[in-house]
Amino acid sequence: MYPSDIFSRMYAGDEDKNLYPKQEQVPSEIDDALQTNLFNVMLNRRSQRKFENREVEDWKLEMIFAAADTAPTAGGFQGFEIFNVKNPDVKLKLVEAANKQPYVDAPVVLVFCMNPSRIKMNFPTGIIRKFSVQDATLAAGYAQLAAHALGLSSVWIGMIDEERVMQALGTDLVPSCLLCLGYPFKMLQPKPKRNLAELIHEI
Ligand SMILES: Cc1cc2nc3c(=O)[nH]c(=O)nc-3n(C[C@H](O)[C@H](O)[C@H](O)COP(=O)(O)O)c2cc1C
Repeated sequence: MYPSDIFSRMYAGDEDKNLYPKQEQVPSEIDDALQTNLFNVMLNRRSQRKFENREVEDWKLEMIFAAADTAPTAGGFQGFEIFNVKNPDVKLKLVEAANKQPYVDAPVVLVFCMNPSRIKMNFPTGIIRKFSVQDATLAAGYAQLAAHALGLSSVWIGMIDEERVMQALGTDLVPSCLLCLGYPFKMLQPKPKRNLAELIHEI
């Protein structure tokens, strides 16, 4: 499979839609991006709250969506949805819904919502709901790593008023988190993390 065929996965079976981006629009950087070392990405990722006023290329965004789509999900039912918020008025409503955090008004704003109705498993509602939170959250984590592999930066927004986010989006799906993305104003050094000896509890 040629690396850029990752795009065809996204629209597999949907014959009414053209492949996006069209083959000739696939930039050569895509091959580099697909060769990225996962550990380098994880070690160098750092939350970013200042973005350049520069648009993120559609192909990068599509790669991020494709990455989110590869995440494991409960029963393989993909109990989540992604809202790509382009409307500037909606972005401002999301700033308000996120405790007025101004950087939520970023070049790319993605909202990862739970969609438990997709999970067709015979378990109590509470379990299905928990699955959908995990599905949405994990997909956001995959998207965040993919963004960094593509030279973008991001900040995860968990401090949200769920109701206000739902109103802003016009959906009855409950959000798990927002991911704000863009080109970093300045690359930051990764934050030091806990010592592994403290983190791991062998029993
Ligand atoms: C569940 C969760 C909620 C978060 N909520 C916010 C938030 O509302 N606003 C914000 O600026 N950063 C938020 N962050 C980002 C963290 O502040 C950041 O990941 C943490 O400080 C570690 O820094 P690093 O990502 O650069 O390693 C959140 C991260 C997670 C995982």
